[in-house]
Amino acid sequence: MKKILVTGAVGQIGSELTLALRQKYGNDNVIATGHKTKPSEKLLNSGPFELINCTDINTIEAVVKKHNIDTVYHLAALLSAVAEANPQLAWDVNMNGLYNTLEVAREYKCALFTPSSIGAFGPSTPLDNTPQDTTQRPNTIYGVTKVAGELLCDYYYKRFGVDTRGVRYPGIISYETLPGGGTTDYAVEIYYEAIKHKKYTCFLKEGTYLDMMYMPDAIKAAIDLMEAEPGKLKHRNAFNVTAMSFAPEHIASEIKKTIPEFTIDYKVDPVRQAIAETWPNNMDDSVARQEWGWKPKYNLASMTKDMLEKLSQKLKKD
Ligand code: SER
Repeated sequence: MKKILVTGAVGQIGSELTLALRQKYGNDNVIATGHKTKPSEKLLNSGPFELINCTDINTIEAVVKKHNIDTVYHLAALLSAVAEANPQLAWDVNMNGLYNTLEVAREYKCALFTPSSIGAFGPSTPLDNTPQDTTQRPNTIYGVTKVAGELLCDYYYKRFGVDTRGVRYPGIISYETLPGGGTTDYAVEIYYEAIKHKKYTCFLKEGTYLDMMYMPDAIKAAIDLMEAEPGKLKHRNAFNVTAMSFAPEHIASEIKKTIPEFTIDYKVDPVRQAIAETWPNNMDDSVARQEWGWKPKYNLASMTKDMLEKLSQKLKKD
């Protein structure tokens, strides 16, 4: 029986991944953990919740011991724009947090999933059809921590036999919990503003292509990879995974099909624009498809239809 710990369970991915894991492995077998942000009622009422701070190894160890944890989904991290505003904190949370979690996983023989990101690439990476194995010289602190994290996870597997696995997530779009300050957040905000005000001012320029994915596919990627037959994995960490690639004007045209009055204009944030320009336009995820059968369900059209339906229902209730 799996006993799972989720760090960052209150965050954008964690809040939904925890519920999916609880459904699959049983409510009491999935321990949600968070640091400061208040967990939702859904999270609190569906299973155990503990406070931990990933930068303090003792707090992770105590929960792993108490609940006999054998698998960790380590999601606690700062996103790119917030990280750029506070590089020292980003290093502490993203790097020391991962190191501490890996150390506990080594000691207590836990498997560990942790996401890398499109942010692990940089300006000298081929930005079209970005290969699985290629140049990675990111120029953001977020990217630096992601590349170092990929390498550290590979190291813990080879050196200590820790069953580390991970993907490079693109921008994740969801309606449950807002993302916490990333460069791809416009693709979430746009749906909220389309429903509330029928217009959106985008902080990235027209023509800025980035990889994206709808939350159900992001959850499926994490669980499928952790369930994959280990013998099939030639890579273990940092698999490129994507579901779609688009620029702001494409998501706007798709929204217009449901909300014809919707308009978009642009007020570019130079920090986030500069970050986006160093990230892939579209990644090649064929290695994940070959090694563990990765295949997303949603494209821009099906995601937009579902997002607008689900988010409208949610905003009516709020
Ligand atoms: N969504 C993330 C960000 O924009 C990328 O991994 O920071």
